[in-house]
Amino acid sequence: MATAKTLWYCTNCGNESPKWMGRCPACGEWNTMVEAPVEKKSAGSGSKGLSAKSSDARKPVRLKEIDRSKEPRMSLGLPEVDRLLGGGIVPGSLVLVGGEPGIGKSTLSLQIPLASGLRTLYVTGEESERQVKMRADRLSSDRNPDNEQTLIFTETRIESVIEQAEAIRPELMIVDSVQTMFTDTVESTPGSVSQIKEVAAMLLRFAKTSGVPVLLIGHITKDGYIAGPKILEHIVDVVLQFEGENRGAYRILRSIKNRFGSTSEIAVFEMTGNGLREVANPSEMLIPMHEAGLSGAAICATLDGTRPLLFEVQALVSSAVYGTAQRSATGFDTRRLNMLLAVLEKRAGFHLSAKDVFLNMAGGLKVSDPAADLAVIAAVLSSNFDYSLPGDSCFAGEVGLSGEIRPVAQTDRRIAEAARLGFKRIYVSSFTPLTGELPKGIKTVKVADVPALVKSLFSNA
Ligand code: TYD
Ligand code: MG
Repeated sequence: MATAKTLWYCTNCGNESPKWMGRCPACGEWNTMVEAPVEKKSAGSGSKGLSAKSSDARKPVRLKEIDRSKEPRMSLGLPEVDRLLGGGIVPGSLVLVGGEPGIGKSTLSLQIPLASGLRTLYVTGEESERQVKMRADRLSSDRNPDNEQTLIFTETRIESVIEQAEAIRPELMIVDSVQTMFTDTVESTPGSVSQIKEVAAMLLRFAKTSGVPVLLIGHITKDGYIAGPKILEHIVDVVLQFEGENRGAYRILRSIKNRFGSTSEIAVFEMTGNGLREVANPSEMLIPMHEAGLSGAAICATLDGTRPLLFEVQALVSSAVYGTAQRSATGFDTRRLNMLLAVLEKRAGFHLSAKDVFLNMAGGLKVSDPAADLAVIAAVLSSNFDYSLPGDSCFAGEVGLSGEIRPVAQTDRRIAEAARLGFKRIYVSSFTPLTGELPKGIKTVKVADVPALVKSLFSNA
């Protein structure tokens, strides 16, 4: 069985190559190729437990003859996760939950069997039975810790895992994590590219043939090096990714791929002393706790996926003490901040080049919606003048290079959310095509460019 043949894999995109290359020709990343032995498919005596025959016997069917009834779904007991999946998990699907270490993947995956009461096989290669028990006790304050339906299995050999799963036939299987599992059919160490691929492929085969949905956990590191989730994205049905600053309490679970529902949906959680708590109305958590009246804060009406989200943008502008001015942004692209500062300098005549500028998105959020531009500019100017913005106003607009304010997608939904939260005014682009009635109690302030915004906000400053 010891064949010396090896292949090179890109740890970023999973591309295969017969020889080493400094740069992956598929994704263009440098230094991402790693060597891994090729598994001999026919030699895989260990995988005979998987009935590949039933799928071999399949025949093509006419499109019009396919049953159109909805996919059945199973609830995972956490409404926000169900919503993210498109209304529950689909039997026989393989769902990958990725995220950095310590973000809460194991916590979430243990909360699911406790909250849903599904007969679950929870396989862990990372923790001992006692550790899982201790965690379950921690989570137990409002759930049932003695859930009889949850079976804990500490095992890393995937053949044994699948054997047990075939025997038990649970309603749900959870595997924590793909990096710790290994198969006998591949000779490399657990966590290597070929192991990860094969383990995922075996779990996929199990899910498809048995109809048991499988939740697979995968680690990603900050620099994205650890092979795994990226490579698996092609194989699995659904990819959910955990995001958030480790220091902050908020975690965002984002759907990146979903064969059974829409992507770019998010669910927000708060990490508490006893587990993750779903935040059904994230905006309410992210808008200021203080009375209006502090300078440097502006409320931004963004859209994350299809979900409107209002939160506070904070800026601090101060004279640079040392020669060069510092620019630092948390949760926002620093290059974009530099661009906005350059626009303020060139188009509105603010000399910020000798000032330090610090920017922060509340709650440890990472924001990529261009609609945040307007709030960033408003917060920077507010701090610069040390003049607070009215607490009942919020902002949604993209700023262009010539200082013009551009309309953003789905302004109506942002306005509706702002109105729901009691905002009286929302600053938007003059070019926003608004049709239909505005919700009660909110007015739009239309601004065409940065000077118009400055005039509107600070004319009596
Ligand atoms: P964990 O789920 O182990 O992360 P992952 O599996 O993604 O590596 O969660 C780790 C962090 O969460 C850890 O630092 C402790 C914290 N935590 C809480 O704050 N409250 C809790 O109830 C639990 C179980 C964990
Ligand atoms: Mg873990």
